[in-house]
Amino acid sequence: MDSSGQFHFPRWSNLLLPAIGVLAVTAPIYLITLVGYGASPATINVGYRPEQPVEFSHAIHVGELGMDCRYCHTTVEQAAFAAIPPTATCMSCHTNIHPKSIKLLKVRESYQTGQPIEWVKVHDLPDYAYFDHAAHVNKGVSCLECHGRIDRMEVVHQAEELSMGWCLDCHRDPTPSIRPRGQVTNMEWDPAMATDEEQAEIERIHKSLKSTRQLTDCSTCHR
Ligand code: HEC
Ligand code: HEC
Ligand code: HEC
Ligand code: HEC
Ligand code: HEC
Repeated sequence: MDSSGQFHFPRWSNLLLPAIGVLAVTAPIYLITLVGYGASPATINVGYRPEQPVEFSHAIHVGELGMDCRYCHTTVEQAAFAAIPPTATCMSCHTNIHPKSIKLLKVRESYQTGQPIEWVKVHDLPDYAYFDHAAHVNKGVSCLECHGRIDRMEVVHQAEELSMGWCLDCHRDPTPSIRPRGQVTNMEWDPAMATDEEQAEIERIHKSLKSTRQLTDCSTCHR
């Protein structure tokens, strides 16, 4: 109950009302479909590749120039949201590199006017599903697991389903997806490359993981 004397259910509970009605009739089949694959077409958009206002290429900046993801996506280790870099980050190089390029016209304009570039969001979960970057990255889950080979993408596309079934597949047993934290942004890393120290770190993380019951509890992702 809040100060106005009203109960507040989490937003996602609205979805369950129709679900409960259907459940009464077709409980077993419905539960398997819902809990196993809970999915909406907007999210399961593998290959979704919107056109961006500037031809920014991860293949050039990460693949060729070797920049780390965290140089631009600065918040991934601290916050739920992975920050998109401000224009100033681009201009720290592009004041001198290709200063007259037509491909960078909108970047220079944005820098002069202070109006941010309007990047189109690629990955977008519905509001009733909660996701947290820091919770994953700090337990050694790599960007690669969820975003694919970003370092080879000229234009970013969605590589994985992002459906509830996909999240749960990993949450039932995340251990095979854990790597040393120092390697989360390394697109070339292979478990066979782990040093003894890194192997020990992986085992420490395995032991620290929340239980399967906690990680598959509805309230973990619907709060
Ligand atoms: C690991 C995270 C996670 C857990 C745990 C989880 N969900 Fe979900 N759920 C999601 C995501 C992500 C979506 C959105 C999927 C989409 O848009 O395709 C979703 C979607 C849904 C939907 C909407 C389905 C639809 O067809 O649009 C319902 C209802 C739902 N979840 C109920 C539940 C219930 C009940 C539980 C507990 C048994 C649960 N969820 C546990 C992540 C989770
Ligand atoms: C030089 C800065 C820079 C670096 C380095 C960089 N990114 Fe990006 N990233 C961007 C910008 C700008 C966008 C928005 C435009 C776009 O989608 O291409 C973006 C978009 C993304 C998106 C899509 C976001 C959405 O809208 O859903 C993902 C995922 C992503 N980056 C992952 C990565 C990963 C993983 C790495 C490291 C392997 C990385 N980025 C390195 C600047 C960068
Ligand atoms: C660390 C330096 C650095 C940063 C930061 C950086 N870039 Fe670049 N960018 C480069 C270099 C170097 C090239 C040229 C690669 C080449 O020509 O082979 C380049 C090329 C480009 C090009 C192609 C230009 C052309 O004319 O071919 C675009 C567009 C671009 N960058 C956009 C961006 C955007 C947008 C950002 C910010 C999100 C950004 N860059 C941040 C170094 C950087
Ligand atoms: C466990 C899966 C997973 C991992 C690991 C992961 N991401 Fe994401 N990422 C997502 C999902 C899901 C979204 C969409 C979130 C939403 O719409 O609420 C997303 C969105 C983004 C976005 C768009 C901004 C945002 O937060 O919505 C960027 C940029 C991004 N990720 C970069 C990265 C980088 C860089 C890494 C590695 C350091 C990384 N991600 C690791 C699943 C992941
Ligand atoms: C490749 C494996 C993997 C995938 C895919 C994945 N997760 Fe996770 N998730 C993890 C791990 C590992 C943790 C950290 C568990 C811990 O701290 O013990 C975690 C933690 C979380 C947490 C924080 C739980 C808490 O209570 O601290 C949330 C929320 C979450 N995941 C949501 C999602 C959603 C939503 C999706 C799908 C869009 C998703 N995850 C996909 C592996 C994954």
